[in-house]
Amino acid sequence: MKDKVNGIDLFYQIDGLGTPVVLLHAFPLNRTMWEPQVQELSNEFQIITPDFRGFGKSGATDDPYTMDLLADDILQLLKTLSLDEVILGGLSMGGYVAFALYRKQPDMVKGLILADTRAEADSEDGKKNRKAMADLAIQKGPLVIAEQMTPKLLGKTTMLKNDSVVQKVKKMMSSSSIAGISNSSLGMALRDDSNPTLKDIACPTLILVGAEDELTPVEAAENLHNKIKNSELQVIPNAGHISNLEQPSEFNNAVKSFLQQFK
Ligand code: MLT
Repeated sequence: MKDKVNGIDLFYQIDGLGTPVVLLHAFPLNRTMWEPQVQELSNEFQIITPDFRGFGKSGATDDPYTMDLLADDILQLLKTLSLDEVILGGLSMGGYVAFALYRKQPDMVKGLILADTRAEADSEDGKKNRKAMADLAIQKGPLVIAEQMTPKLLGKTTMLKNDSVVQKVKKMMSSSSIAGISNSSLGMALRDDSNPTLKDIACPTLILVGAEDELTPVEAAENLHNKIKNSELQVIPNAGHISNLEQPSEFNNAVKSFLQQFK
């Protein structure tokens, strides 16, 4: 489905009925990374998976996509769908957007799922790397980004043993628009440190992380768990940064049992 929100055509999928659960995708992927969750969870819940601007089937714009801008897109989508309260889940960049959305409208978030993400802003070196990534996307295109990023996103177990996931992730990344990759890269570099937000998160929160995640490692997840009062942490064995695709059964089981309290 597509709706005009916040000045762009935002594409999203809705599957199933029940308590609404919004899942926000990682960079530079799109809503289809959530396929294993949509399949399994839409039997019991309403799963809403939007494509951020610049990704999947959503429209793109030209300026940096700050996490606040992406959060506003999602908030306007929820308004369009007449949803006042949701469970909000985000993986990596999806988690950065979830923090921004929580700061704007904590009352709309009944529960949080934070997967393979972190509260910290980028270091100075990290910011330089974002600019280099944006330039590379413009000069060489998404395929080069996909080749470079796939071994960083996926864990060593997946890289060695699960070629179908490797190919799926590579294909998803190479289908991303140049605008999406470069503008969200620049937007992530501008994001705030979310550590001060963590003590204010009052809703039940599930934190997930792949044991082999090198981008947002287990220590980053432990930091979230230590600072978010009502949180539980689960480390997913044999998974890297895209833990939901790398070990979908473990991921789904954790999410399913967390979601039971909201039925
Ligand atoms: C993501 O998976 O969304 C990105 O790796 C996040 C990041 O680069 O910080």
